[in-house]
Amino acid sequence: MTSDLSSAPPLTRVPVDLGDRSYEIVIGHGARHLVSEFIPASARRAAIVTQRNIGVVVDPGIPSQIFYMEDGEEAKSLATIAELSRAFVSFGLTRADVVIAVGGGVVTDAAGFAAACYHRGVGLINVSTSMLGQVDAAIGGKTAVNLPEGKNLVGAFWQPIAVLCDTETLVTLPERERRSGCGEMAKYAFLGVENLDQLSIEEQIAACARLKAEVVSEDEREGNRRMLLNYGHTLAHALEAAGFADGPGREGIDLRHGEAVAIGLLFAAHLARLLGRIDDARVARHYEVVRSYGLPTALPVGVNHGELLRLMGHDKKATDGLLFILDGPRGAEIVRGVPDEAVLAALALVSVAGH
Ligand SMILES: NC(=O)c1ccc[n+]([C@@H]2O[C@H](COP(=O)([O-])OP(=O)(O)OC[C@H]3O[C@@H](n4cnc5c(N)ncnc54)[C@H](O)[C@@H]3O)[C@@H](O)[C@H]2O)c1
Repeated sequence: MTSDLSSAPPLTRVPVDLGDRSYEIVIGHGARHLVSEFIPASARRAAIVTQRNIGVVVDPGIPSQIFYMEDGEEAKSLATIAELSRAFVSFGLTRADVVIAVGGGVVTDAAGFAAACYHRGVGLINVSTSMLGQVDAAIGGKTAVNLPEGKNLVGAFWQPIAVLCDTETLVTLPERERRSGCGEMAKYAFLGVENLDQLSIEEQIAACARLKAEVVSEDEREGNRRMLLNYGHTLAHALEAAGFADGPGREGIDLRHGEAVAIGLLFAAHLARLLGRIDDARVARHYEVVRSYGLPTALPVGVNHGELLRLMGHDKKATDGLLFILDGPRGAEIVRGVPDEAVLAALALVSVAGH
């Protein structure tokens, strides 16, 4: 992959304002080439964590070594953190050095968590190469790995030094992964990012990144407003925990994260309608946006609603009965104590294809 930066539109820089841990998100064609600008002065070595199929090359300008991790959700595991950490020791990586995560959300989540833990924290630069990563996963300092019991159950808040969202890398991203990223983009359309469909891809990513940066700057540790970024995610996480995402032997129903979020957005719209928070036109608008990205609009066949209800109760955001982010007259809000009957009725509505 080569870049002709002379004819590319200028890069967009979005600040994440977190006091002495503030950083920039740089968005645009060839943004990965800025990586050497962000290497800490103390760093003598860079550990580049990526996956074999990604093929995005970065030049940190200091001695570096590439560490490959496996592909897929299963690779977001404590075993990967142990493997990476041991390989970092062999490489001689010190606390003054830097980890560069080059990949989608799986790489930035896992490499980010490894960076957060290794020597109790080493500098991290995210070079995001997937649509989902660029609009969401690479930004905001949430790092995590999965347990067999559920997604993202072990992690840390560890803010990067910079996030480089190189839109040129999206050229090689498989179409289904690009669409999956649009599931997170659809979420932003209901959190106040207007007229996304009228913007170029760089502008769309920048608009989503700007909102995420603003929310993270205000509520880094997800005490309140940041929870809104989980719009559509309560059901998505339950679907993933139920094995409907990326599970071996689940061909045909292996929902990608953004696809699960898309179904979660429609479920949340039905639930908000059942609770009298929005009208039919607003539900229809949710379907229109999700369909415009070519994302699924119904639960996979065979999913057990009772199991989803139980799993939504396990969601780590649910500390006080069933908690959902729901649309309403004042926009998306945190709604607690939602009755089981309403949840089951909304699940039934989102089971019907072509609603
Ligand atoms: N930390 C957060 O705030 C946050 C937010 C949202 C999602 N996430 C996490 O993000 C993950 C999903 O991220 P994702 O959708 O990027 O999935 P992913 O990282 O699995 O990437 C999707 C696939 O595309 C490949 N790929 C990535 N970039 C490529 C490129 N430029 N060219 C060719 N192939 C490329 C990957 O190797 C992988 O096979 C989930 O684990 C989810 O939990 C985290």
